[in-house]
Amino acid sequence: MSLLDVRDMKVHYKTKKGISQAVDGVSFAVEPGRSLGLVGESGCGKSTMVNGIIRVMAKNAFIPSGRVLFSGQNLAALPEKEMRKVRWRELSLIPQAAMDSLNPVFAVEDAFIEVLTLKGGLTRKEAHARTVELFTMVGLDPDRMRNFPHEYSGGMKQRAAIALALALQPKLVIADEPVTALDVIVQRQVLDELKRLRNDLNLALIMITHDISVVAETCDRIAVMYAGKVVEKGTTKEVLQNSLHPYTMGLENAFPDVRQQDKELISIEGSPPDLVNPPSRVQVCSALSLCLGALCYK
Ligand SMILES: Nc1ncnc2c1ncn2[C@@H]1O[C@H](COP(=O)(O)OP(=O)(O)OP(=O)(O)O)[C@@H](O)[C@H]1O
Ligand SMILES: [Mg+2]
Repeated sequence: MSLLDVRDMKVHYKTKKGISQAVDGVSFAVEPGRSLGLVGESGCGKSTMVNGIIRVMAKNAFIPSGRVLFSGQNLAALPEKEMRKVRWRELSLIPQAAMDSLNPVFAVEDAFIEVLTLKGGLTRKEAHARTVELFTMVGLDPDRMRNFPHEYSGGMKQRAAIALALALQPKLVIADEPVTALDVIVQRQVLDELKRLRNDLNLALIMITHDISVVAETCDRIAVMYAGKVVEKGTTKEVLQNSLHPYTMGLENAFPDVRQQDKELISIEGSPPDLVNPPSRVQVCSALSLCLGALCYK
């Protein structure tokens, strides 16, 4: 049985213009200890979907239909009280812009103490000892635990957010663009750290990123989203070597290749479709065939 089995999930937003179908019938699965890379252009619904899975949603968001089977339990139908038992303990989220998710008026350690005592049932003393362990695990100096978030560098805050997500040893971690705001050297350190932790703890991981090279390196499988739908999925090798969908081809061709320095990079034209009045399948197909035509032509 898959650890996470998302079936035909929809997450919509109520807006003044009408219902925005931000996630519109998405299905994918993650096996225990395996990793899935979720890629797609800005605004295609990646964060909306993972926030829907863990049910940390904006006030105007709702799940009209679909199932989120986690260890066989449908999270989409779980009362909030039950959901609180699953969040952090069983699955956790490193939110987009995690760097800014730490409360600026509390020392970084306080966030850990709160999760470990309230969610993990540890005493304050035990929670302190576990925080030292977690800091050490992600390469942070435990002497800095009592510092405030503004006293940390971006890379340190990102590591703290990762450590916090791992605090209660969940089975699945969802990382929403965990390295986007970091320079390439710190990106490499954080990614290596995530990879090591994944192996050591047998974690399953969903990694959202715009960087297909990050997925190629970190993930066993890929799902590509476009306009609220998964348009292509498979093993990383399958999807990267034989992409079938024009959008995936576009994504790959937008990245430089060190072996082909004179290769012209192709940008994907236009802007994401309006999700309140989404294009029909026919419109999407014809737009994507034009995109495919442009890619073949180049
Ligand atoms: N609270 C909200 N109310 C209405 N629409 C929203 C809300 N939050 C997000 N959206 C819209 O939902 C769509 C999907 O947004 P989402 O943040 O999930 O995209 P994303 O794929 O994570 O993008 P990015 O890669 O830029 O983070 C976008 O059109 C966005 O404007
Ligand atoms: Mg996002």
